[in-house]
Amino acid sequence: MFAEALKRLPPAPQPVAVNEYRERQMRLAQQFRSDDVFILAAPAEAVHSNDVHYRYRTSSDVLYLTGWHDPEATYVLRHDGRSWKSILFVQPKDTLMEIWEGRRLGCEGALEHHPVDEAYPTHERDQMLSDWLAGAKRVFHRSGVHADLDRLILDAIERRDRKRQHFGHGPVTLEDPSPMLAELRLRKSNAEIEHMLWSSKVASIAHELAMRHSHPGVRENHLQSIIEGFFSYAGGEGWSYPSIVGCGENATILHYTVNNDVCGEDEVVLIDAGSEFRGYASDITRSWPISGTFSDAQRELYDLVLKAQEAAIARCRVGEAYTAPHEAARRVLAEGLIQLGVIEQTVDEALDLETGDLRKWYMHNTSHWIGLDVHDVGVYKPNGEPRTLESGMCLTVEPGLYFGAWRPDVTCPERYANIGIRIEDDVLVTDDGPVVLTADCPKTIAEIESIVGSEWK
Ligand code: GLY
Ligand code: MN
Ligand code: MN
Repeated sequence: MFAEALKRLPPAPQPVAVNEYRERQMRLAQQFRSDDVFILAAPAEAVHSNDVHYRYRTSSDVLYLTGWHDPEATYVLRHDGRSWKSILFVQPKDTLMEIWEGRRLGCEGALEHHPVDEAYPTHERDQMLSDWLAGAKRVFHRSGVHADLDRLILDAIERRDRKRQHFGHGPVTLEDPSPMLAELRLRKSNAEIEHMLWSSKVASIAHELAMRHSHPGVRENHLQSIIEGFFSYAGGEGWSYPSIVGCGENATILHYTVNNDVCGEDEVVLIDAGSEFRGYASDITRSWPISGTFSDAQRELYDLVLKAQEAAIARCRVGEAYTAPHEAARRVLAEGLIQLGVIEQTVDEALDLETGDLRKWYMHNTSHWIGLDVHDVGVYKPNGEPRTLESGMCLTVEPGLYFGAWRPDVTCPERYANIGIRIEDDVLVTDDGPVVLTADCPKTIAEIESIVGSEWK
């Protein structure tokens, strides 16, 4: 089933060019003074159980600045008096370790293929960093990732040795560079958009395959394995967040990940699953009737969520506040639920964040940034005001309605009992309007009804 599907994918984009990484580094360096040092350590490997590690995924900031994805890396940006130097500490080549754990690029590979001027083995890091820190004034470093590194930097700041007393040398402040990086990452380059588009296409096909293989009696984990199997088959790293595959009442649990129930004939299945490709995430949700045909009640809700999503996508425009899609979606949902007799309030009453009834059935936000992280970085309200959308920003649009009949806090309308619908796409803001990166994923009722179960019947 995967081989045919793979033919529908265009060729994968070229990797991000070394020059682009250099430009990113220099845009960051422009914000520093020549006696600043920037230090970015990759997170440590996480242990799953004895001798077994989780799949390693370095931090998105490391990927953004260097493209280096192996563990035990530390990236440093420092000025040597003439120019900024881009420096990477990496695991050195080591035949025995490579026999057990896999090949390493080592310092030679870092210098040859990555945007760095100098590369050193990890075991030389602390001594070299201490020397560089002794001549620095400010250290840009996110603490809390590596206790050892935090200690080394704090020691450098706290040291009261003779040199400092005589010459005033040594760092005096520690600053978190994360907001600077977040600001850079918020606007995607063409190369990044190509990666996100490819990740989106993989996820779109994966969702369609799951639709085609749906049938009454299918297990949630069957659908999950089709989707995640295709993520790997297509050549990406796998999922960008744990897949949510819930049918019936499970579809009304926003972050359901148990994924082991059997899907009944009358149920809707909600699948929220996205792939990762060279670090870039996609994030798609589709909801469909297991039988292949929407019941009247399911259709009413699906129609409404789709209208809300279309209204929200239309607001993903340059110059709009990032909150505009959310407000548009909420208004459509409130009006629709009043019309369906679910809410007995005026539209404005229903929309009230404290007392409105919309929150009973739609309780999350409509959008988040997406990029190297599925919930990507970028301050939503700089200076307390909602950020204005700009060309190159990417956000999800994901309204939903969740009628959990199991909930003790609400009285669920019987007609909609245990129907959960979310429709989520990833949208790029451009000067020419919104571009839906996940547009290949079937979404209209007609498309879904013609596809669901088609590989099963
Ligand atoms: N998949 C997580 C989300 O939609 O935000
Ligand atoms: Mn999302
Ligand atoms: Mn999602």
